[in-house]
Amino acid sequence: MKKARVGILISGRGSNMASLVEASKAPDSPYEVALVASNVPDAPGLDFARKQGIATWAQSHIGMKRAEFDELVDAELRAAGVEYVALAGYMRLLSPGFVRKWAGKMINIHPSLLPAYKGLDTHQRVIDAGEAKHGCSVHIVTEALDDGEIVAQAEVPVLPGDDAHMLAARVLVEEHKLYPAALARLVRGK
Ligand code: GRF
Repeated sequence: MKKARVGILISGRGSNMASLVEASKAPDSPYEVALVASNVPDAPGLDFARKQGIATWAQSHIGMKRAEFDELVDAELRAAGVEYVALAGYMRLLSPGFVRKWAGKMINIHPSLLPAYKGLDTHQRVIDAGEAKHGCSVHIVTEALDDGEIVAQAEVPVLPGDDAHMLAARVLVEEHKLYPAALARLVRGK
């Protein structure tokens, strides 16, 4: 079976990217990682990707128009033969044109049980609201932030005494399982 070629966009640590890369090594993985791209040239995750022998591309978006920068990213993805895009801590809003080009083929992981808690600082906001449950979601990327069809979710409890770091760590364990599984399902067409 020919494996689907996936491009991953990161801006930072890249632990979700790493989990996608690790899962792609399984012989029965339906995808391979063709490119890791970043808008932050010193994003720590790029080192991991390079050490894995994965092609990387990085350029700062600073000083460029959003659509112009996204065209560059799109060109890199196409040149690498990418068929699906996974956003993994990519801290940038995407231009409508870019989103349209990858419609139905681009997913994101977000640390909340969407549609609740879109945006930033989800862990602290969940604690402040006194929620009993939190988690993460994988969704199809649309023009609106953290919107689009939810394709997978995992829940964790919020425990007494949790601070945002403790809660984030509990959610992250689930993110690292959920994202590879959701990506595999997407590329299998399920
Ligand atoms: C994760 O919590 C992810 O859900 C969110 O940003 C964080 C990225 O972490 N979109 P990492 O760079 O994948 O380690």
